[in-house]
Amino acid sequence: MLKPKVVVYNLWPELKDYARAKLRGFPHAIHTSALTPVSADPTAEVLVVFIESAATKDIMARLPKLRYITTMSTGYDHIDLGAAKKRQIPVSNVPTYGENTVAEHAFALILGLTRKLFESVKRVKEGRYDFRGLRGMDIKGKTLGVIGTGHIGANVARMAKGFEMAVLAYDAKPNPALAQTLGFTYVALPALLKKSDIVTIHAPLFPATYHLINKKNLALMKPGALLINTARGGIVDAEALLAALNSGRLAGAGLDVLEDENLLQNFEEVMRHGNTEFKLKTTLVNNLLIDHPNTIVTPHNAFNSAEALERIINVTVDNITSFAQGKIQNRVG
Ligand code: NAI
Repeated sequence: MLKPKVVVYNLWPELKDYARAKLRGFPHAIHTSALTPVSADPTAEVLVVFIESAATKDIMARLPKLRYITTMSTGYDHIDLGAAKKRQIPVSNVPTYGENTVAEHAFALILGLTRKLFESVKRVKEGRYDFRGLRGMDIKGKTLGVIGTGHIGANVARMAKGFEMAVLAYDAKPNPALAQTLGFTYVALPALLKKSDIVTIHAPLFPATYHLINKKNLALMKPGALLINTARGGIVDAEALLAALNSGRLAGAGLDVLEDENLLQNFEEVMRHGNTEFKLKTTLVNNLLIDHPNTIVTPHNAFNSAEALERIINVTVDNITSFAQGKIQNRVG
């Protein structure tokens, strides 16, 4: 078996020892910070990244020995697959670590909104023990629209059944057997938007899904509906969502992801990026969404359970071991 040099970026500090033990046998370097043009290690043969580390064409050009990329995430829109393909560098992900984890977070957002949980907690902590103005809504008997019925969307549909919700789904590649097993119905996107009380997004960010939820599609949603996004920020046109919330057309949104969310962590990045005007606008709209009284925004935290993180590292090391044995598993590019 080959022993390629593995360089890991964005590893969670508390999991460093766990990852080191798993990577025993491979020469490796572990960074808890993100991959940047400055931190790119030219000795890397295997690059391990997380969503905050963009593996761009420019960064790949700084890694002359690079032969394999594996991301510790399900989504891989932070990796330039075209640039990797040109250099014949295969790319893998961790396809299933979070199928229940992210679905549970989606329900945390749904229940947080429907029970006005955060406003309630804040009020009590401020010393006002009073339920007036905090009336919520049952989810039993309501219709949940699931966009994307892959690993996570399927778990959301299954959990929704436990709450006695009706479930409609839309997927570019419907899975009729799954619909039958879990008892949901596939419909076209406009029908899902028109009929659902709560819409939850579980499709990947692709050119085809970029701003899938835009002004036109938001206008199809039921008045007073809720939108949940734990997939990727770029799937929702944030400006159109803000307008729908401000007009009262939507009653609320639960968002674990925002377009260009990395700019919220490091505002200086806005200035460093091209298309500064667009980035500034997105950042402003993101801040308005965060401050909106009818939103709950969490910091891309849906994946972040103790169990899921160990699964991520186990699968990532399996991907690397498989690569070292000449096989590519969990290939996405
Ligand atoms: P998956 O690949 O199992 O399922 C995605 C589903 O979306 C598939 O059924 C696919 O056919 C469908 N799809 C593709 N294009 C579509 C389109 N244009 N319209 C409608 N449906 C479409 O992925 P999985 O594991 O369910 O994850 C979904 C997404 O969740 C990931 O791509 C990732 O971006 C996001 N995610 C977010 C996390 C977080 O911490 N917030 C953690 C893990 C994943």
